[in-house]
Amino acid sequence: MQTPREVETLRCLLACPACGDASLAPTTAGFSCAVCGGSFPLVDSMPWLFPEPAAVLGEWRGRLHLLLEYLAREAGTCRRELDSDSLNDLTRQRLQLLAHAYEDQAVRLRKLLAPLELQARQERYEVHLALGTRLPETQGLTNYYANIHRDWCWGEPENRAACEFVTRLFKPAGPPRRLLVLGAGAGRLAYDLHQSQDIETTVALDFNPLLAMVGRRVTAGHRISLYEFPIAPCSIADHAVLRELAAPTPARAGLFFILGDSLAAPLAAGAFDAVLTPWFVDIVPDDLPVLMRRVNRLLAPHGDWLFLGSLAWADRPPSQCYSLEELLALAAAAGFAPGPAREERMPYMNSPASRHARVETVIALAAAKRSEVARPGTAAAQPAWLKDPDLPVPALPSFREQSLSTRVYAFIMAMIDGRRSIRDMATLMEEQKLMPASDAIPAIRQFLARMHADANKRANF
Ligand SMILES: C[S@@+](CC[C@H](N)C(=O)[O-])C[C@H]1O[C@@H](n2cnc3c(N)ncnc32)[C@H](O)[C@@H]1O
Repeated sequence: MQTPREVETLRCLLACPACGDASLAPTTAGFSCAVCGGSFPLVDSMPWLFPEPAAVLGEWRGRLHLLLEYLAREAGTCRRELDSDSLNDLTRQRLQLLAHAYEDQAVRLRKLLAPLELQARQERYEVHLALGTRLPETQGLTNYYANIHRDWCWGEPENRAACEFVTRLFKPAGPPRRLLVLGAGAGRLAYDLHQSQDIETTVALDFNPLLAMVGRRVTAGHRISLYEFPIAPCSIADHAVLRELAAPTPARAGLFFILGDSLAAPLAAGAFDAVLTPWFVDIVPDDLPVLMRRVNRLLAPHGDWLFLGSLAWADRPPSQCYSLEELLALAAAAGFAPGPAREERMPYMNSPASRHARVETVIALAAAKRSEVARPGTAAAQPAWLKDPDLPVPALPSFREQSLSTRVYAFIMAMIDGRRSIRDMATLMEEQKLMPASDAIPAIRQFLARMHADANKRANF
């Protein structure tokens, strides 16, 4: 990892993600907690600070495996289409480019993410789909993948604008001494602030190992090449563009990347003078008042919560899709004195290879901590049989119900033999006393339509 002095700096800011105790000790393999006995490894030289480190590592490994399987399947689809004689030369050229890029990207990702130790995984794509590796939606390996290219290749104007916007939020006395960036992604904003301002320690926290590994490596002076697959490519060549990712200069001392969940932040209470949440509060499952309390806890007295983003809420009840006015009122109730909100139209994800680009009216505001608030609860504790692989799994009524529906699901899928029609299947359903054939026809039709649509959906990694 870093020098002994840097390890000590980091240690003072960390808390055990499992028990919340503020006393992690460095070990040769990472960090350990003297209170609960938890040990937390280093992954690609970054502290891996999740409450259940091995389980989370297994989940990300599974997502990487699924992503590699997906790339192989996409390459295979392109190659099969290339077998057709009816393709024109330009389509052939595009498919060849894509097939090669998918294959090469898989090689590059496997190498880059070698610290996740994928070797032992060999399950089939279908196993992942059955086990739901692609869920939850917000935790995919390639969610925010485009940010990598924006951060470290073509995004200079956007990156500069974001950095300047945040800098204007700093107190007149100067930048914070210890800055935390929650949901730092591939880390460009954290790096730019650290490099351009007199900040002693900047901690960039994210739970996505792909983004964090790219951020850590490029800010250490490495160059990485990965493909960009733009949403709306401008030309054939733009369908898959091999980008070189690099930082302008290696970061100076004091910039740390750590892997952890902001909802169980492995950080000591009061450890930071400022906590920045860039494009973050509207994508975490926490209701905003709960997230504000988490931020409040991490701040030293009078420290600043620095908000940056455009409040584009998704996947939550309407009552939690807050406007700026509500955010300001909620901040006051969460122990903050919010300053004036500034708004600016800013380009967002304007890849030169894509016809798709966004302009957002971005809000920036600083809210000073003026009082402590009650510590938010941690996520509901998992039942013992989920944590301990040796305990019997209870036969809950809901499990029995799911077991039956899974058998029906398997029964319908098994009836597909390339010869039977929907009516034949409905007759079989009636014979098995599952449903009258007249009801089974529309039900099977709807079920198969869903399966057909699902098969064409892009999986989430
Ligand atoms: C919209 S992106 C913004 C990334 C970065 N701040 C930027 O502006 O480019 C949200 C980031 O939050 C991270 N994230 C989401 N939920 C998280 C969680 N519970 N803990 C840590 N990071 C999380 C994602 O991996 C992603 O990098």
